[in-house]
Amino acid sequence: MTTYSRITGTGSYLPPRRVTNADLAAELAARGVETSDQWIVERTGIRARHFAAPDVTASDLAAHASRQALEAAGVAAKDIDLIIVATSTPDMVFPSAACILQAKLGIAGCPAFDVQAVCSGFVYALTIADSMIKTGAASKALVIGAEVFSRILDFNDRTTCVLFGDGAGAVVLEASDTPGILSSDLHADGKHVGMLCVPGTVSGGKVLGDPLLKMDGQAVFKLAVGVLEDAARAALAKAGKTDADIDWLIPHQANIRIMTSTAKKLKLPMEKVVVTVDQHGNTSAASIPLALDSAVRSGKIRKGDTLMLEGVGGGFTWGAVLLDF
Ligand code: ACO
Repeated sequence: MTTYSRITGTGSYLPPRRVTNADLAAELAARGVETSDQWIVERTGIRARHFAAPDVTASDLAAHASRQALEAAGVAAKDIDLIIVATSTPDMVFPSAACILQAKLGIAGCPAFDVQAVCSGFVYALTIADSMIKTGAASKALVIGAEVFSRILDFNDRTTCVLFGDGAGAVVLEASDTPGILSSDLHADGKHVGMLCVPGTVSGGKVLGDPLLKMDGQAVFKLAVGVLEDAARAALAKAGKTDADIDWLIPHQANIRIMTSTAKKLKLPMEKVVVTVDQHGNTSAASIPLALDSAVRSGKIRKGDTLMLEGVGGGFTWGAVLLDF
């Protein structure tokens, strides 16, 4: 019998400090940086984001989201046999946030590692977990997106610091006789490294280069819309499905204008798109599982719905996962 993988539980966590556009504009004004709620809402759709306290790490956020997902799935932490954390803002250079999370969950022994694909990290991680379950290497996986992007923002650069937030989302992915994950389509093109990056690195005990986020926003916008459509269409074709089969589109929550353009290209009304960017901002690898969990908990997404998850981010990386929930 073929083994498939299926999401059996979702969870998420936002750090308690909620920062509205007005709050952020006031903080930035104190630095001499000018922005407004109106500009941010019109250009991005973002109204608020959450920022973690300075001593809170990606694995802390991941632990909260994971416990919720385990509870929703009715799975005990000790039965998890694979942990993958998608993050670009891990607790340390090493070990991975996944290993730190494993200890926080009070378990040991199963493989645990991070995936670094920036805002596409969750679709990458989900695809890896699906592949490992299909080969029999795992049967109950925890797949998490967790980020503290506030750590790498340049609060003197208004073109980037208003866009991002912190948070985590998690799913339990279990072996199943029925799908589950129907198809996935992943890509990268390293020639776009400079379009969105944090160029700094650690060397000889010092930070070399600039450790804050740099982005060419307009170039990202153009590239994102095209590749998101291509990845979604490729995932549909691999599963023998069409646009009309999608019940919910859960795109990476970067910017409402990118999401609207993508939905239009896929001929999906905005009523079928899960939108949380207004309340979360762009939480990079956490954005898709955060949006998924919020739509599951609000009762929008029901068991049996067909979901298209798609992400695009630094690298550049992009990809889509089509699944029956
Ligand atoms: N507040 C007020 N004014 C601002 C701000 C701000 N926060 N940021 C920029 N401006 C100003 C600029 O200085 C510029 O002023 P000027 O005309 O006097 O020079 C003006 O607004 C227009 O700037 P643009 O960069 O042309 O604005 P644009 O409409 O392109 O919007 C944005 C910028 C929102 C970044 C857009 O390009 C975008 O959404 N790009 C996609 C980037 C993205 O979503 N990245 C997320 C990470 S990547 C990912 O997750 C896939």
